[in-house]
Amino acid sequence: MPLKPSRLWPALLVLLAFTVRAETVDRFTLSRGGVALEVSAPAGGVVRIRMGRGQLPEDASWAVPASARRPLTPLQVHRTGAYVELRTPTVAARIDIRTLRTEVLDGSGQLLFDGCAALASAAGFQLRARLSGDDHIFGLGDKTGTFDRKGGSFVMWNSDAYKFSQATDPLYKSVPFFMAVSDGGRATGVFLDNSWRTRFDFGKAERDGLTISGEGGPLDYYVMVGPAPQDVLKQYAQLTGMPPLMPQWALGFQQSKWSYKTDAEVRAIASRLRSENLPADVIYMDIDYQDRSRPFTVNREAFPDLPQLARDLREQDLRLVLITDPHIAKAPGQGYAPYDSGVAQDLFLKLPGGGLYSGDVWPGASVFPDFSRAVVRDWWGRLYAGFVDAGVAGFWNDMNEPAIFNVAAKTMPLDVVHRIASDDFRPRTASHAELHNVYGQLNSRATFEGLLRLQPDARPFVLTRASFAGGQRYAATWTGDNVSSWQHLKMGVHQLINLGLSGFAYAGNDVGGYAGEAPSPELLTRWFQIGAFMPLFRSHAETNRPDQEPWVGAAAQVDIRRRFIAERYRLMPYLYTAAEHNSRTGIPLLRPVFLNFPDVLAKGDRLGGSEDQFMVGGDLLVAPSPTQESPGDYAVELPGTGWYDYWSGRRVAGQRLTVTPTLDSLPVYVRPGAILPRQPLVQSTAITPTGRLELHIYPGPDCRGDLYADDGVSQAYRRGAFLRQHLRCETTPTGLRVLFDSRQGGWAPWWSGLSLVIHGWADGAVPAAVAGTATLATSLDPAQDAAVVLAPDMPGGAIDITR
Ligand code: NOJ
Repeated sequence: MPLKPSRLWPALLVLLAFTVRAETVDRFTLSRGGVALEVSAPAGGVVRIRMGRGQLPEDASWAVPASARRPLTPLQVHRTGAYVELRTPTVAARIDIRTLRTEVLDGSGQLLFDGCAALASAAGFQLRARLSGDDHIFGLGDKTGTFDRKGGSFVMWNSDAYKFSQATDPLYKSVPFFMAVSDGGRATGVFLDNSWRTRFDFGKAERDGLTISGEGGPLDYYVMVGPAPQDVLKQYAQLTGMPPLMPQWALGFQQSKWSYKTDAEVRAIASRLRSENLPADVIYMDIDYQDRSRPFTVNREAFPDLPQLARDLREQDLRLVLITDPHIAKAPGQGYAPYDSGVAQDLFLKLPGGGLYSGDVWPGASVFPDFSRAVVRDWWGRLYAGFVDAGVAGFWNDMNEPAIFNVAAKTMPLDVVHRIASDDFRPRTASHAELHNVYGQLNSRATFEGLLRLQPDARPFVLTRASFAGGQRYAATWTGDNVSSWQHLKMGVHQLINLGLSGFAYAGNDVGGYAGEAPSPELLTRWFQIGAFMPLFRSHAETNRPDQEPWVGAAAQVDIRRRFIAERYRLMPYLYTAAEHNSRTGIPLLRPVFLNFPDVLAKGDRLGGSEDQFMVGGDLLVAPSPTQESPGDYAVELPGTGWYDYWSGRRVAGQRLTVTPTLDSLPVYVRPGAILPRQPLVQSTAITPTGRLELHIYPGPDCRGDLYADDGVSQAYRRGAFLRQHLRCETTPTGLRVLFDSRQGGWAPWWSGLSLVIHGWADGAVPAAVAGTATLATSLDPAQDAAVVLAPDMPGGAIDITR
């Protein structure tokens, strides 16, 4: 997958020329041997296939909103002998009406997927297809195992996986979506929209065979024909949604621990961050701020005045994020409002016999909201009113697999009863077996939508541990309870790459590692360096462990960590521009190299560096040592020549580099042709930088860059209060021309001017003269080599810089 063109294909083409009749339909349905099948095309390059025994499955989804499921493109029906072919300009499906085997082809007729389904008589199904020998498989969310999933077998079942390892499966999230990328970068995506326990086998049980099986629920799947990996991600995002634009502070450094236990402790952490000059935006409070671990309470002895604490932190340009787990303490007659109001309105999950289901978690016996009901989600959202009024900025939904203590299954019994009443589902009861994998997604949805109702003009920030496909519309995520080890540092990057390839662009690992032996100072330092390039940059660790904040250890180590945190803040305009791009396209911030350069995938098992290196946005390539702790030299392979060293701004020679690792550096390279925005250092995104915005230009072919800015926190950008500008550059006989496309949006940026910093001109040549169009006031900056200064309001135009 993509498959080699079938040998039957030329013959079929001839037959198709004699097609008897062509009609056009929105959905094509067919029934054979008691099996119903439907094909539709809900987006360009996407086909949806649904099959059911007797009748089609219910047309409803927790992952794909109704608007995205609606057929978009009419299907042209061509019948030829035993085949029906349904064509759109970009994708086609060919059904063998004797067997209902369904092939998916791209617009040019290349066969990409050949799905052969078997439906069990009761529930359950199996879908088989061929993988081609040179496919690499990516996606499936936060799963570990091999980076390329080929040869592996994976289960979708959200699980609390404390101290997981490379071999642990399943983990916290279920994202039944993957893309197969062949040598040369041709990509095909498959998304199975089924929330039950399912299994994906990529050539493990049977060489070159793909088997997807499920215990229940619909056989309802989508095939996305790319052709490039980025196209597949866009097609998947069209179905399951984009992440909303996060508040900019969510891209800042976030300090967490289980737990900062008192008001004084939280204040001490805030003061230390500031006195150490460690830029930071967020402090988290874990379960111990609560009264007896009961969600939506505060231990008043430890935190006598939460609103005052939140205010004082804001004075220090820090925001507070609180944990709120889904388990509600079973505390009848004790004046615990979430329990009392939930029982009064009958909002909790039930046992088949009708009694309340209860399971043990942090508060002891607990009950669980039935988030599959819209009324329950509304009620849950309102529980945040007190914290929002107190000035809490964001919320952390943990333990929402849901995790249950003291039972072998680590979750609730499968026959616990949900009463679905939401979206376009038929109101009905459903077992936990059906809802388990979406429980966390619906929990974070309830939080996100509730916060939006409480503060319609603020951008909600929700962090969730469990989720399902489509959950990126509601929350950022992290990879759960990792271990402080070099292996986890490396594996964590793979998890983030695959999460980004599964729709979840806002993701991070607990920096320093959560569990196990405390990290060595070197490991902690390396984790901060790499963490500074992760979409979500949060340091967090388990209770009863030595401190793990960035100031732990020798001054030399702290200096390195400070330098990398500061670099992230300098790069904030670039990161934020990538985040905004993600919110419109679904293309993640952190990417495998092949996502930007698909042709790095070459014959054999070569991933073109994608396994050990990663890209941030379109222009930065980060190349940590593949073995992380190894002191030995290692090779870095760049996707082409002419790249620049990010730190020195100088061109690096060649494509294959040998790097000698040192603890105080992390190799980062810049694409030739990049234009990177950078800003003066601030200690928090809450502080408006002063001075100029820098535009770093790295001349090369395809020279381009983007700039996006807005107020960072509100929804005003949706009403036009943003700045978006596309920039280009061209080399001229005498130097360089920089072109500013016309500016979109009405937001007035903070900068007093722009510095164009030009890298890589031979022999250290600096600009000698600069000429702009009338509207672009320009001058040379004598204080800064190779810098041209522009007035702040940069309308469209061009400037010529002569060296
Ligand atoms: C489990 C979470 O994964 C971890 O991050 C958190 O600290 C603990 N629960 C306690 O809330």
